[in-house]
Amino acid sequence: MTVLGIGGREGAEPSALLDLAAKALADHGLALTDVECLATIDARASHPGIQLLAVVAEAGIRDFTADELATQPVDHPSSTVARHIGTPSVAEAAVRACGATPLASPVKADGWVVVVAQLLASQPARPDLSAHQTWRLGGYELGHHGDVEVTRGMLDFAVNVHSEEPPEFLAEALREAIGDLARYPDPRAATAVVAAAHGVAPESVLLTHGAAEAFTLVAQQPWRSPAIVHPQFTEPEAALRAAGHEPARLILNQASGFRLAGLDPGDADLVVIGNPTNPTSRLHPRSEIESLAAPGRLVFVDEAFLDAVEPVDVPVDSLARRAAADEGYLVARSLTKTYSIAGLRIGYLIGHPDLLARLAARRNPWPVGTLAAVAARTCLSPVGLAHADEVRAELPRKLADMATTLSAHGFTVVDDPRGPFVLARHPDARLIRARLREQGVAVRRADTFPGLDDQWLRFAARDSTDVAALTSALRRTGLV
Ligand SMILES: Cc1ncc(COP(=O)(O)O)c(C=O)c1O
Repeated sequence: MTVLGIGGREGAEPSALLDLAAKALADHGLALTDVECLATIDARASHPGIQLLAVVAEAGIRDFTADELATQPVDHPSSTVARHIGTPSVAEAAVRACGATPLASPVKADGWVVVVAQLLASQPARPDLSAHQTWRLGGYELGHHGDVEVTRGMLDFAVNVHSEEPPEFLAEALREAIGDLARYPDPRAATAVVAAAHGVAPESVLLTHGAAEAFTLVAQQPWRSPAIVHPQFTEPEAALRAAGHEPARLILNQASGFRLAGLDPGDADLVVIGNPTNPTSRLHPRSEIESLAAPGRLVFVDEAFLDAVEPVDVPVDSLARRAAADEGYLVARSLTKTYSIAGLRIGYLIGHPDLLARLAARRNPWPVGTLAAVAARTCLSPVGLAHADEVRAELPRKLADMATTLSAHGFTVVDDPRGPFVLARHPDARLIRARLREQGVAVRRADTFPGLDDQWLRFAARDSTDVAALTSALRRTGLV
């Protein structure tokens, strides 16, 4: 088992750690993907560089206090380090604290120090990583998201946000609203615009702090037997678990093309499903989702990506209008993807007013700020809806381009993708992702989604220039 000891300055560049680690490992014929444990001091465990390396290497993090490190016998003590942080060594002491033996002296660059070490199977003190992997809920890293796979300057196929910046009409509306920030937010105008666009009453709309808040509000209800249709976005399950529930996983498989195909939720009183589903990109026909309904059950549909598929005001597969009047359904929508405002945090729920009142009962005061409300109002105004029309119009070509490229390079692509991303399988996916990363290209690992393994990758739909760059990078991996 390979253990990497790490020490570093607080301001050290995250990507420099990746470079140094890769170089140090290569001297021993090892790669980042061979590392199983990162060992460091507690004050650095949440450093973005160490977090990034943990994601890329898919390694656990083990951290120690300065006192624990100070008791380790080391070959390369430093009196300066001792003076500043109370232990004469971090990287070397941390691997020794794991019971591992350094393979070489510490190497340094750009404010980082790493030590490559090996823990022999016969050595008894195998580190207990479980305590440091609390995010690994139910066997999957439910808290993992594509954004941590992308550092500045990378070509990004990992995050499903449409563009690098919000459209100008939206940026302008936000700039204009800055003068209103002295007042407390009032979501009524925005709620009315959202409701009108969907053709529902304002009482059936609840603006939220991103679609993500909707998952938390739903999770806080006293469910008896919640269930989640997987593979899908992991935050609904994470929110349910954080609220003390043990949701059942209803796993769709590749053989059925990740279709619902008569899925039976048993006695579930809550069923959560994404439409179109992230990461499979499967669009479930509305009638199939309706077949999940049952007396006493809430069917909660995450339609975060549906504005990229069908117009808000001409719904085909959306259950928003039905949810506005029927307590058996609830719909979450996001504005962060199509409008490129993931940092602003705005989404909404559409549901029966009684249900929305129960969900909103324990919220913070003013959970949606003025700028977020202005964004909602603007996105669902005629100019905003026209922007979504444009995004939608270009999507089929982008999806076809991506699917053709991946198929031509030996990937098995989930057919008929409809969300703004493609899910694909390749026996060497894990290695391909690592080699793409080395070339500055980020793709989303998909083994953090229950029901998928490390042969799956998700690729955001992008324009042809980006796909051409991906094609060259794929060829350079030497694996496709
Ligand atoms: C399917 C799905 N639903 C919801 C969200 C969260 O959306 P928001 O940014 O509005 O919280 C995401 C984000 O990646 C997602 O993929």
